[in-house]
Amino acid sequence: MDKKIHNRTILGGLILLFIGYNIVIYTQNTSNNQAVILSPKAQKGEHLWQENNCTACHQLYGLGGYLGPDLTNIASNPNKGIDYAKAFFNSGVKSMPQFNFSTEEQNQIAAFLTEVDKTGFYPDRNAIFESDGWVTVNYK
Ligand code: HEC
Repeated sequence: MDKKIHNRTILGGLILLFIGYNIVIYTQNTSNNQAVILSPKAQKGEHLWQENNCTACHQLYGLGGYLGPDLTNIASNPNKGIDYAKAFFNSGVKSMPQFNFSTEEQNQIAAFLTEVDKTGFYPDRNAIFESDGWVTVNYK
């Protein structure tokens, strides 16, 4: 076979392979189980969370402002829970401003915090400092 034709055949083959590869990569369903999809109610709550800048003072997974506590696991906290959390929304305590959420809006924020809680723990470990200097880490 002519060398030029031979090179073209290889090049053509590579181009076809490239196209095929791209088709496979870009048409495959990329959604994985890790993606968190909030319910419509919780999504409204997330909007309220953003519009009212709760993040300025509160953290989710440690990210946010530090004036108020982290709210990642407030819903499942045995000493707090979602009803306790809801009591704060409209009451205005210490440096937390008083909001005027309707009952529906309060339920939406509560749904958001409850669903965020189900996605994991923050912090996800407890470190125990032993007297001999060792640190034992317990993951949740
Ligand atoms: C200007 C700062 C600020 C903003 C903005 C703010 N908070 Fe707070 N929040 C605080 C502070 C400070 C506390 C702690 C009050 C206390 O312990 O008495 C608190 C407490 C809370 C608590 C109780 C937490 C606990 O573990 O005891 C909840 C729930 C809460 N806020 C929700 C919200 C939501 C929802 C928003 C947005 C709509 C919001 N906060 C906006 C400052 C803020």
